[in-house]
Amino acid sequence: MNVQEIMQQMTLEEKAAFCSGHDFWHTKAVERLGVPSVMMCDGPHGLRKQEGEGDHLGINKSIETVCYPTAAALASSFDRDVMRKLGEALGQECQAENVAMLLGPGLNIKRSPLCGRNFEYFSEDPYLAGEMGAAYVQALQGHGIAACAKHFACNDQETLRMSGSSNLDERTLREIYLPAFEAVVKKGKTRSLMCAYNAINGTFCSENKMLLTDILRNEWKSDAFVVTDWGAIKDQAKGVAAGLDLEMPGGPNATGEEIVEAVKTGTLDESDLDKTVLRLLQFVKDSVEQRRPGATIDRDACRKLARKLAGECAVLMKNEGSLLPLKENQKVAFIGEFADKPRYQGAGSSHINVPHAVSALETAGNAVIYARGYDAHSDVTDEAMLKEAVETAKKADVAVIFAGLPDAFETEGADRDHMRLPDNQNELIKAVSQANPHTVVVLHGGSPVELPWLHDVPAVLCAYLGGEQVGAATVDLLYGKVNPSGHLAETWPIRLQDNPSYLNFPGEEGVVTYAEGIFVGYRYYDKKEMPVNFCFGHGLSYTQFEYANLKLDKDSLTDQDTLTVSVDVKNIGSVAGKAAVQLYVRDVESAVRRPVRELRAFEKIALQPGEIKTVMFTLDKRAFAYWEPKCHDFFVESGEYVIEIGESCRDIRITQPVQVEGTIELPFTVTVNTTIGQLLKHPKGKEIIGNMMRSSALSHVDQTDSMGEGSERMMQGMMMGIQLGALVSYGRLTRKQLKDLIATLNA
Ligand code: BGC
Repeated sequence: MNVQEIMQQMTLEEKAAFCSGHDFWHTKAVERLGVPSVMMCDGPHGLRKQEGEGDHLGINKSIETVCYPTAAALASSFDRDVMRKLGEALGQECQAENVAMLLGPGLNIKRSPLCGRNFEYFSEDPYLAGEMGAAYVQALQGHGIAACAKHFACNDQETLRMSGSSNLDERTLREIYLPAFEAVVKKGKTRSLMCAYNAINGTFCSENKMLLTDILRNEWKSDAFVVTDWGAIKDQAKGVAAGLDLEMPGGPNATGEEIVEAVKTGTLDESDLDKTVLRLLQFVKDSVEQRRPGATIDRDACRKLARKLAGECAVLMKNEGSLLPLKENQKVAFIGEFADKPRYQGAGSSHINVPHAVSALETAGNAVIYARGYDAHSDVTDEAMLKEAVETAKKADVAVIFAGLPDAFETEGADRDHMRLPDNQNELIKAVSQANPHTVVVLHGGSPVELPWLHDVPAVLCAYLGGEQVGAATVDLLYGKVNPSGHLAETWPIRLQDNPSYLNFPGEEGVVTYAEGIFVGYRYYDKKEMPVNFCFGHGLSYTQFEYANLKLDKDSLTDQDTLTVSVDVKNIGSVAGKAAVQLYVRDVESAVRRPVRELRAFEKIALQPGEIKTVMFTLDKRAFAYWEPKCHDFFVESGEYVIEIGESCRDIRITQPVQVEGTIELPFTVTVNTTIGQLLKHPKGKEIIGNMMRSSALSHVDQTDSMGEGSERMMQGMMMGIQLGALVSYGRLTRKQLKDLIATLNA
């Protein structure tokens, strides 16, 4: 199949029609030219293959298969290997089911805890999201299955998800909302991206040339094709001109007439259409060539994998007095409906049809006693259930309550209204913890909740939405068969009101303004030194780790060099465990607002008791840079930075300073409105103004005579704020001198 030749033989009408899907899940065939139709299916934490009627909301049936942990859980593993194993398993399954593309990973940023689809997204941190996504994409595509990174971009809420505009500044877009996509494009080499329904600053993603062409193709050098989210098309011809390739789902009415019309009237260049057709043909060609007929999938092995992965994801948030792990001889009570009917995934297009989700109760069997405790479909306390739960807890050495967000709270299409657990669950936890001080809470959900009882319970294990085997994995963790090693990929604030997006979520009048800018998640809480329930990166283990010998291969470098960092990590406890070694970079002093620290590298390592491993990291320019709108690029300010190694963003164990010199000079245009203060920050301006101040024109302004300290500050402030133009009014410069000065400074 020579895609160029085929494209040349296609009529304008055929090319235009080829830009829309055949039905819910298939591309169009061009039978005349031997181009087959290929299938795509929803993922990303399982395969949602619909053989009957299709829908994009998780309503109609899909084949029975395995549900793995959701992205919210997976990110907490801080382990690229977890993502690789999942990508490989799904790649094999897609081969066995003749599926060419799996729609995922979801890379949107967890801006607010309320986003209904947070369980489908990795993190509040773009670096972590990008690394996890890229590892998954590489593994999936290694099996010849295309990934489709979604929802590109700024689709961080469900309210108005199809029609709203996410409005944000350039720096925020580049530092927070695009880097995960960038990593999956550059590192992961994703074959495809799904453009989001929403607009960015008023331009719909499906027609957004800046996003689809300028950034994706020209800047990131990607040859990936872009598919719309299902129904995200507005004006298809405009879309193709902007860099869009495939409209989905399409169907019989999607004939491409808008495109034909636009080519005929000259508003769309046929060469743009040809590029689109070539990208789509190339995808079909690759899928056909990489197809492995006769491939099979062993779903029992997949279930074992799902259990193992879920064990890597759970986060031990709190464990006072080493209440966990449970001991075999303890009498244990499991309390709560979720112990029996686990919550393991969310609702919507990612919904996986599983024959059976394994509960903690069935896994523990006779080892535990049980009380239902609450009705998961209600938030009203059932007094009889509460009483039974309290009595059951009293009979046990340890009570383990399984709590979390009910199904209806976490779904595509709707955001949560608040950040609370249902009242009946909060009341149950309070009552049980009073009856039995040895109470553990296991939490399910894809996003943080408020924890009003946190100080009443000694232990909390967050299992997130851990896939169909989450019950079994939870028992493994509770009893110490698996040592918890997950770390939070998002901050758990105390109250919803603390969240930086609080005043601007979900927006109004069709617009959501990302007014908090780059200060999303821990970037905000740390800058404000705000207390939180659990910070980003936090996670306990049944062992402890010690960090030593932090070494940098140089004490100073330029932004063109790389820095190699190594650190020794030792397991100082008595059981084997895994450490999530996190590397943050702190800019000591900056001319622009920056977060206190940012995650720039991480590594998960397994250590036997007493074992030491050296972890190596390589940092490049991006580790030190921020996005500078003045040069429309990532920019490194010269100065001192600190490399920090820790177990969370608030548990930094060891640090080393390093000098980094930036090699880009920022454009600096002097006008009549430039202030003395601004000039003094610029090397050339500083020299010229410094000389002027010493010699003549401004010297008197610096004289403070017998003024008090307040006036001195006032003079200083006033002087720094004087704009150059005013020097003429003040009689310090003539118009001509001012003009010459500006010309010299701009030369
Ligand atoms: C979702 C996508 C999904 C698509 C197909 C849309 O509603 O936003 O994530 O892949 O449907 O089901």
